[in-house]
Amino acid sequence: MQHGLAHPGPGDPLLPLAQELEALSPARRRELRPLQPAGPASLLTDSSAAALLDLASNDYLGLSRHPKLQEAARQSIARDGVGAGASRLVSGSRPIHHALEQALGHWLGRERVLLYPSGFQANLAAVQALADRHSLVLADRLIHHSLLVGVQASGARLRRFRHNDLSDLEQKLKQARSNGPEPRRVLVLSESLFSMEGTCPDVAGLTELCQRHGAGLLLDEAHALGVLGSAGRGLGFGETAIQLISGTFGKAFGSSGAFLAGDAVVGDWLLQHSGPFRYTTALAPPLAAAALAALEVIQQSDVERQLLLSRAERWRAALQAAGWPRPAGYGPVLPLLVGDDQRALELQGQLEAQGLLSVAIRPPTVPSGTARLRLVLRQDLPEGSLDRLLRALGSP
Ligand SMILES: Cc1ncc(COP(=O)(O)O)c(C=O)c1O
Repeated sequence: MQHGLAHPGPGDPLLPLAQELEALSPARRRELRPLQPAGPASLLTDSSAAALLDLASNDYLGLSRHPKLQEAARQSIARDGVGAGASRLVSGSRPIHHALEQALGHWLGRERVLLYPSGFQANLAAVQALADRHSLVLADRLIHHSLLVGVQASGARLRRFRHNDLSDLEQKLKQARSNGPEPRRVLVLSESLFSMEGTCPDVAGLTELCQRHGAGLLLDEAHALGVLGSAGRGLGFGETAIQLISGTFGKAFGSSGAFLAGDAVVGDWLLQHSGPFRYTTALAPPLAAAALAALEVIQQSDVERQLLLSRAERWRAALQAAGWPRPAGYGPVLPLLVGDDQRALELQGQLEAQGLLSVAIRPPTVPSGTARLRLVLRQDLPEGSLDRLLRALGSP
């Protein structure tokens, strides 16, 4: 057995796990690595205290250490304590939760918002609200793992459509109604900014298609909120035919926690029936306070958003000019496709030797043969970052 672990013997319930671990190739193994924020928000240090420029985190607007968020969290700790002590439906609902839900509803033009401790949980809850074992779920081939877990938990039948391909989706929507016994409900799942691809669907087209075929639509806006769409309100903003929007505070909002936003009926259903809402301790009040402060900052960040998007365009063009495949999309996620797992790891090491942190994303997070370096832009990168990156990457 590798890594100094004792090998479970025959009949040991842990034997299948040990065998699976043994079969893992070194290029697919994951390790935990502590990184300490240091100095400006765009720097992290590792155990050797080497400073690394952060081109890996999803802190797109650099809010995780913003003084307004820190102050809001500090005040909430003093007022509310660290934890809520119970589920929202027992005694854990605080005024700060309600204030945040109201502010998000107002910002997004949605009747009802409910907070969840994480986006993973919110997605699980969202799929369970909109699909059951009599339903058919049509999901983009590259949707986030949490949505797939939601489909499994709902008991619905799953079919995948090609990434961002509305004609493939339309064909599957038509088949859903013409093949055998009709599913009671059809639900379509997509994301507004695919976190490993950098791509966005045509959200208006997607919404129209779902409406025309009587299908529900759940849009995960985890990576778009705060960054894309009108005033950073995501690409689903104004598309009221989307039944549920899922958002997280773990990306551009700079903290942690999540929410679902929809109309009054789906909101009330979640409140009455959602297990992932009911059977979990309420989002920690300091995190809710930080998210509310982040929302205020985001509402005043039009200039920063524009800078981030024009930087993203500049970086894409420069990478292409240097001979790399142009990263897809237009947002702050720039995947540099490499293909081979080991090559992606080597490239990560090569950047790190030059003080740049970007992480090799390998299967099963992405399909086999599509390992990549995921470059993530942030609003607060220092001048000269692109030149440093191009020098560190060299030619492909
Ligand atoms: C597309 C997408 N949805 C949902 C999540 C889950 O969000 P959270 O980190 O708040 O659990 C993530 C983050 O990992 C994500 O990338």
